[in-house]
Amino acid sequence: MSAGSGDASPGPPGAASSGPAPRARLIGRRLERHARIGSTNDRARELADTGEEEGTVVLADEQLSGRGRAGRGWHSAPGLGVYLSVVLRPPTEASRAPMLGLLAAVAGACALECRIKWPNDLMLDGLKVGGVLAEARTTAESIRDAVVGIGVNVNHDEGDFPPELRGRATSLRRHRGAPQDRAGVVRALIDSLDDWYAIWRRVGDRPVLERFASLAPDLRGRRVRVQDAGAPWTGVTEGLGPAGELLVRRDGSGRRAAVRFGEIVLVEEV
Ligand code: BTN
Repeated sequence: MSAGSGDASPGPPGAASSGPAPRARLIGRRLERHARIGSTNDRARELADTGEEEGTVVLADEQLSGRGRAGRGWHSAPGLGVYLSVVLRPPTEASRAPMLGLLAAVAGACALECRIKWPNDLMLDGLKVGGVLAEARTTAESIRDAVVGIGVNVNHDEGDFPPELRGRATSLRRHRGAPQDRAGVVRALIDSLDDWYAIWRRVGDRPVLERFASLAPDLRGRRVRVQDAGAPWTGVTEGLGPAGELLVRRDGSGRRAAVRFGEIVLVEEV
């Protein structure tokens, strides 16, 4: 393990500027690197527990027990992907915690020039290139702390994915047709997270939701199967609600449901 500060991203090129003074970076001021770790989210949680400052990033070349959403694992092959987590302490209401996952998806999609599938899958060519695992600890009123983890498939070939992911996952290398610089991907992700977190803190949910909507092509008019707490059901998407929930007009009853947690699968029209 090694720790450093301020080396996650070079400053903007050029020296003096007549524009506004650059904002002090929050995310990535301190970076803890690991060759191998269980899960960067778990390590970031440990750091948060011991009072780590907001913005610290935990980065690993390999995860032995990388975690995904809904209790799934996250395939974290050594040296091929980017696996990073950020400690956050947003001073805001507990009800806004789901925005952290949406915000990270927007940041990831802007950094990687990819699309989003609600709630926070990063997609290229209709396949998953990355994902976000946002875990907040809240009191009744407010967010105490949060860990936002992002995993990106960078230099994977098809054969690097386990059989169950083949045909469902892709990598930046496969999409762009050439090996990619993982350090550059890390810098782009951290810069974008820093930008979007600052926007969210300063302006609120609206710009995040607007950008999310522009990056998620399935949010409106798509027939989907919804897997939430109960049995799967189908309907047609009708956009995002004010807290980032997915609005879906249910088949059968015709009622509009607000999906807060869960997955959607696109249903092919016949
Ligand atoms: C998903 O299921 O799509 C979310 C995947 C999130 C994976 C990342 S990799 C870095 C961080 N550490 C983890 O254990 N998970 C997240």
